[in-house]
Amino acid sequence: MARKLAAGNWKMNGVTANLAEAAALAKEFVASSVDILLCPPATLITPMAQILKDSPIATGAQDCHSNESGAHTGDISAAQLADAGATYVITGHSERRADHSESDADVRSKTEAVCAAGLTAIVCVGETLGQREAGDALKVVHGQLLRSLPDEIDATKLVIAYEPVWAIGTGKVPTLAEIAEIHADMRATLTERFGDIAADLPLLYGGSVKPSNAADIFAVADVDGALVGGASLKAADFAGIISALEAS
Ligand code: PGA
Repeated sequence: MARKLAAGNWKMNGVTANLAEAAALAKEFVASSVDILLCPPATLITPMAQILKDSPIATGAQDCHSNESGAHTGDISAAQLADAGATYVITGHSERRADHSESDADVRSKTEAVCAAGLTAIVCVGETLGQREAGDALKVVHGQLLRSLPDEIDATKLVIAYEPVWAIGTGKVPTLAEIAEIHADMRATLTERFGDIAADLPLLYGGSVKPSNAADIFAVADVDGALVGGASLKAADFAGIISALEAS
């Protein structure tokens, strides 16, 4: 059985004052039956990890470089993120793929770097609107998944997030049947490649998840949690999503 995870991605939002939201969540969730994660901008990883250190909420990063160190101005390695207090790193978010031309091969290298640093990778895949309208969603996600993952995986250190690009930040959500179709295909693809351990990999859905639609999405087979952008910025919204996952 895959563990359940409610992961928040603050993206390029938040300054020190916003750490109060993390503190409020830590106050509300002193224990949880699910895994909880917040990924603030890199500037807030260390203070957030400090605030969350006695809570069940983990702190993560949104990206890393694939090398451990070196002449890469402005980049941050997985080892440095671990040192800063992160235990997870998101790789291959569609905004990184679009804004920084990250290829599946880049995502794979970064994912390998995250695993080598002993952190858990959340690998994102998802089709664009054009690809879905052309009937290619399954094929696109299948290919991204195969090309973005290392050959060897540790199921306890890997999470997959299906995030249709057109559902991110738009308020549009696929139908539950569309989510179910992709998640079933991802589970089958992962099982074919990695064997029975694929059953233990959390498969998250991401894209306009809110407290009001979370319970329906979490009831879909093979959905083990969510990667949440906008609704993770406010403790009250994210708490509603965490509670829906706990109840699922
Ligand atoms: P959203 O973003 O919840 O704001 O749609 C999701 C994501 O990009 O992870």
